[in-house]
Amino acid sequence: MKLAIVSDTHLAQRAAAFNENWQSAQTWIDTSGADAAIHLGDISADGDDDPASLEFAAAVLSRSAIHVHALPGNHDLGDNSREATAAEAHSINDARLQRYREHFGADRWSLTTPHWLLLGINAQLLGTGMDEEHAQFAWIEEQLHAHAEMQVGLMLHKPLLPLAPGELDESERYVPPAARQRLLDLLRTHALRFVVSGHTHQSRRQRLDGIEHVWVPSTSFCIPDAIQPRLGEKIVGLMQLTLKDAEYRFDTILPDAMRRCNLLDQLDIYPQLAGIKQRLGAAGEL
Ligand SMILES: [Fe+2]
Ligand SMILES: [Fe+2]
Repeated sequence: MKLAIVSDTHLAQRAAAFNENWQSAQTWIDTSGADAAIHLGDISADGDDDPASLEFAAAVLSRSAIHVHALPGNHDLGDNSREATAAEAHSINDARLQRYREHFGADRWSLTTPHWLLLGINAQLLGTGMDEEHAQFAWIEEQLHAHAEMQVGLMLHKPLLPLAPGELDESERYVPPAARQRLLDLLRTHALRFVVSGHTHQSRRQRLDGIEHVWVPSTSFCIPDAIQPRLGEKIVGLMQLTLKDAEYRFDTILPDAMRRCNLLDQLDIYPQLAGIKQRLGAAGEL
């Protein structure tokens, strides 16, 4: 089985540069011979607040020649940090989840081969305490029970955990610790081989305790070092996963036509970043 994996397309009517990069990815995918595509979330530029952006992104994905199995990101659904009042306006809630499902279908799914169980889960539910989070954990347990002999690959928007000493363990970047532990406890007696995530707009591959953690690059933009630590490679592109019997292989794909956009040069798409850009520019940090 060959799967094209994309992440963080940040599509919207107004996001011309990101939409063009997606076109490059889609052209590669449609001619790659992949059996299906997987989207790891942040499909839309701001579908959590703007239904039009979600609708636009869903229409764009539906034009792909092969089926795209989508997972939600914080830009589609809101974030999973529900405790802070200030963050509440951008937090996941039932209405946002419902709207996501109307456009992209199930927010969790599994794909199987004779040797593999791929579990795609909704990272934005983790740590929220929502009924849907409990339902998702029950579903994961069922899937693992039904495919107990298989090797497992986990796919979700946010990386599961920090991979090196000194990395700040913040829930904006990683799965919150309690939910992460619950996931790892469920997977402890299963053959978890890899965890694939998006969200960081960086590409990275690192093995930790026998599990390979793969950060899939964004197709849309990179974030400057001045506002985001460099933990992997800041590139734009996509990946291909090949499953052959019990073996797996990831390849990074860098289509020629894809432009490496800098987030802070995209103020027409994210005008709320103008103040940050001005401040950093004045301090000589850009
Ligand atoms: Fe993103
Ligand atoms: Fe994200």
